[in-house]
Amino acid sequence: MKQIKVTGGNTLTGEIKISGAKNSAVALIPAAILCDETATIFNVPNISDIDALSEILEYLNAGVKREEDAIIIDSSSIVNKEIPKGISKKLRASYYFMSALLGKYKKVEMYFPGGCSIGARPIDQTLKGFKALGASVLEDGDKYTITAEELKGGYVYLDMPSVGATINTILVAVKATGTTIIENAAKEPEIVNVATFLNNMGAKIRGAGTSQIKIVGVDKLHKCMHEVIPDRIEAGTYIIAGALAGDKLKISNIIPEHVESLTSKLIEIGVDIEEGNDYMIVSKKDKYKKTKIKTLGYPGFPTDLQQPITTLLTQCKGISEVHETVYERRFQNVQYLNKMGAEIKINDDKAFIYGPCELKGKKVTATDLRAGACLVLAGLIADGTTTIENVDHILRGYENIIEKLSNVGANIKLVDIL
Ligand code: EPZ
Repeated sequence: MKQIKVTGGNTLTGEIKISGAKNSAVALIPAAILCDETATIFNVPNISDIDALSEILEYLNAGVKREEDAIIIDSSSIVNKEIPKGISKKLRASYYFMSALLGKYKKVEMYFPGGCSIGARPIDQTLKGFKALGASVLEDGDKYTITAEELKGGYVYLDMPSVGATINTILVAVKATGTTIIENAAKEPEIVNVATFLNNMGAKIRGAGTSQIKIVGVDKLHKCMHEVIPDRIEAGTYIIAGALAGDKLKISNIIPEHVESLTSKLIEIGVDIEEGNDYMIVSKKDKYKKTKIKTLGYPGFPTDLQQPITTLLTQCKGISEVHETVYERRFQNVQYLNKMGAEIKINDDKAFIYGPCELKGKKVTATDLRAGACLVLAGLIADGTTTIENVDHILRGYENIIEKLSNVGANIKLVDIL
């Protein structure tokens, strides 16, 4: 079993280069099968979620090649068959194959997707999108058989701006007959990345990044090349690391606009941030002020940075508040921060963080991806050594996290204990 061991107290200085966005790459890869030729995607992060999706592609008899940071997908010989439970459950993004196969073949058989256990994470809005375009959905336990005589453009008003439901509806609509309108669509940059990729293939998508997206169906999509945008959540995680222990820590390959909700909060707290056109330089300050954070869909404060920033809030003077509005179970990191010496109280969907406090190195567990990131950040400033278990959660979403942090001075290593 792997563990991450972090000994706190080191200053972080130097440069961390941000990788391609996990939450974009995991949608681009299934979307690639909508063209019947070869699609090349550059700047794909080397993380286990990508391996899981490549496994699904190979299972479907698609050609998959990794060349440096690119993935080359040849869909000319793909075969539509049931995606077994074991593969479906490996990650949340497996359900993008649900929409891609439905959009391509008008039929798909697979199981309820996996993903971090941070809430119920139903897929009702995705199914609502499928049905609005003429599909019928047969549920047998957690197995879904979805078919359509014909996929016709329709009108979908999402109950909430769901990232997954927005992308899934786009993937089914691009080759449907006629026009689809998605209202109350999610506006995340990853959605724009997917829409641009599909438009490069010959799709007709307008309005991605706004709350209304219009898709005019086309018969055929052709080969194309595209690039994954920088990972704004990875960037935010390392910017927070700079706020905790940085001395002119440079985080490069970023799109500053995508992390604006974070950087404006950090400036409010008192963090020293210098913004460049594609980088941030962050240094720790001695005194930080408390603040209030409410997680919202983009461009609001991202729920995926709620757990990482909570570590910083333990160092802010006063009582900070975090209101998690997106997921119903995304405070599982708090018990371990409190074990390390933090004083955090939870009341329903709010956490109250009393700071500043000294953190001590302890044995802790990563309950999910971003909770794991929060604990790595805590280990960077704790007195002594923090041992983190269940680290596969972390490794599936942060490319080369051990190398990236040790290259800027962190005392961190990945150990394998039998
Ligand atoms: C994507 O998940 C991301 N995952 C999540 O990142 C991210 O937290 C989330 O978007 C919000 O930004 C990937 O892109 C692979 P949603 P997704 O549909 O698409 C509810 C990480 O740490 N909902 O926007 O599953 C849902 O329960 C991961 O990288 C429904 O009720 O998120 C949640 O409460 C974690 N019915 C809220 O909406 C639905 O049909 C937002 O979900 C769909 C969602």
